[in-house]
Amino acid sequence: MTAIQSIKGRRVWDSRGNPTVEVDVVLENGVMGRAIAPAGASRGQREAIDLRDGGSALRGKGVERALASVNGPIASALAGLPVSDQVGADRAILGLDPSPMKENLGGNATVATSLAVLHAAAADAQKPLWRHVADHYGFSPSLPLPEIQIFGGGAHAGRRVDIQDFMIMVPGASSFDEVMEVTNEVYFAAGDIMASRGKLAGIADEGGWWPAFDSNEEALETLVAAIEKAGEKPGERVVISLDVAASEFGENGKYRLALEDREMDSAALIEMLGGWLDAYPIASIEDPVGEDDVEGMVEFTRRFGERVQIIGDDYLVTNAKLVREAAADGACNAVLVKVNQAGTVSESIDTYNAARSAGWGAVVSARSGETEDVSISHLSTGLGGGQLKVGSFQRSERMVKWNECLRIQDELGAGTFVGGAPMAATWWGKQHG
Ligand code: PGA
Ligand code: ZN
Repeated sequence: MTAIQSIKGRRVWDSRGNPTVEVDVVLENGVMGRAIAPAGASRGQREAIDLRDGGSALRGKGVERALASVNGPIASALAGLPVSDQVGADRAILGLDPSPMKENLGGNATVATSLAVLHAAAADAQKPLWRHVADHYGFSPSLPLPEIQIFGGGAHAGRRVDIQDFMIMVPGASSFDEVMEVTNEVYFAAGDIMASRGKLAGIADEGGWWPAFDSNEEALETLVAAIEKAGEKPGERVVISLDVAASEFGENGKYRLALEDREMDSAALIEMLGGWLDAYPIASIEDPVGEDDVEGMVEFTRRFGERVQIIGDDYLVTNAKLVREAAADGACNAVLVKVNQAGTVSESIDTYNAARSAGWGAVVSARSGETEDVSISHLSTGLGGGQLKVGSFQRSERMVKWNECLRIQDELGAGTFVGGAPMAATWWGKQHG
């Protein structure tokens, strides 16, 4: 039983150049754990608050108030607690701020601290983080199936296209390494096609190509062309995954696709997406309707839940209670797990467990504002049987997560890649059995 001796928060900077919170947890034996809070741009309304200072300095994005939470009440409450008791540490944090969205301490303060405690416990047990997570929570570790962004859109690319993430997955790969190789070919094929057509405007927030398409569907057509140019047959080894992030362009069942100057209600949006599911090899779709559109999500899941993975991100905000309610409603069949949406490791694990009990898939995810922190590579491996969403195949804050998985692959053995297993219940799984 090694006790936490001290906790120190400091200001560091994320991939968008914004300030963020880093926390060091030092144990009585000198062992240390460290983690950094990420930050979203297309945030769910019900997720833990990213506490910022406001005012004019640093465009209002300062984190002095969040750091004061870490260095003041959180440090005092956690000192002396056994580091191996993650639930106890997280409860102590929650005891300081019972508000549902952690608006008093700040979710950025709580998530960096909670993850740093987890890192310190792993270091104290002399285990890599993925092994500690698996042992501590009783999971069988396995490398996740990545979903990797090819084009960025929505809030990550000046809303140049309405749909936020155009991604691929390689469920037909037999190793994590093979996923990286295939994705690399598709990513650069996409860039070449866009450049040759005059459609390449730069790099979006998560490292994907920033497109200059004239319609959302042009992105899908280009993605299929890129998969083919890379020598793959779309829908075989490689499939498409979308994050519609519909809350970003609609509420109360009214949606507006700015790129195409089209207004639609929930039924029309579902119809349009259903048409895409028929026309393109899409195996997974996230937030197809807005976070407040329960009827729309139930209807979408009723119609397409047998053939596609339907992930709730803004819709579920890594909240176990919302997962249980959605499962009872028949909305979604998978959850996105973002530790900073929940605010602590324990609440994120509860959400993961709620999803698994419902027979759902689970995708551990980065945020659009990221850093060198690789906690999620370990978390997704330690939880086992899952998927990992990190952004694209460029920029170090993304590559550091994929590269960490390759190191874990060396420790774990290549045979522990889950591959198509998370897709088993979908169209892809049915075709490839
Ligand atoms: P965010 O987007 O990190 O900007 O919120 C990521 C996502 O929607 O999955
Ligand atoms: Zn999302």
